[in-house]
Amino acid sequence: MNEEAKKTLLRMIPHGLYVVTSGKAAGDGPVHGFTATWLTQASFKPPLVMMGVRKDSQSYASVTGNGAFVVNFIPKSDRAMAERFFQAPPASGSRFGDQPFRPAPATGAPVLEAALGFVECKVVHVFDHGDHSVVVGEVIEAQILQAGEPLLLSDTPWKYGG
Ligand SMILES: Cc1cc2nc3c(=O)[nH]c(=O)nc-3n(C[C@H](O)[C@H](O)[C@H](O)COP(=O)(O)O)c2cc1C
Repeated sequence: MNEEAKKTLLRMIPHGLYVVTSGKAAGDGPVHGFTATWLTQASFKPPLVMMGVRKDSQSYASVTGNGAFVVNFIPKSDRAMAERFFQAPPASGSRFGDQPFRPAPATGAPVLEAALGFVECKVVHVFDHGDHSVVVGEVIEAQILQAGEPLLLSDTPWKYGG
């Protein structure tokens, strides 16, 4: 295979940029969040989304361990939010820092107050094959929090793919 062609072409796949959160936002249960771009809708009925999650990550452990996750749609004007959630967490505390969040209605996973909106998903399938697993989530709740355009990977200098 032509490795350069593979990388160039796979990086042409258009992607959004999201913060995927999991855990329990109420009480002192641990919460987790990470920036994800390998995410797409996969079915109308039932409404499904699927995302690639690095197998050996804290994110994978949290999403699959909780059996649920929230996809937070980030405003185009808030690139810093996406940056915060792919950086190493501070030694004390989580990536959420001073970002306000609240429990999602069905699962209690954290919803970022600054998001345009969110879909809340329960994990219905995990396909383990490569270095990322495909996590399939059924959308069980959705809310719009504010008007605005979503942040896209192409709005940033970052690459994740190839
Ligand atoms: C632009 C960008 C997009 C990313 N997209 C994904 C993704 O779709 N899936 C994934 O598993 N990690 C993705 N990551 C990496 C995670 O955000 C990063 O590994 C995060 O630190 C997870 O670490 P943790 O699981 O230890 O919390 C992306 C990183 C960047 C910079």
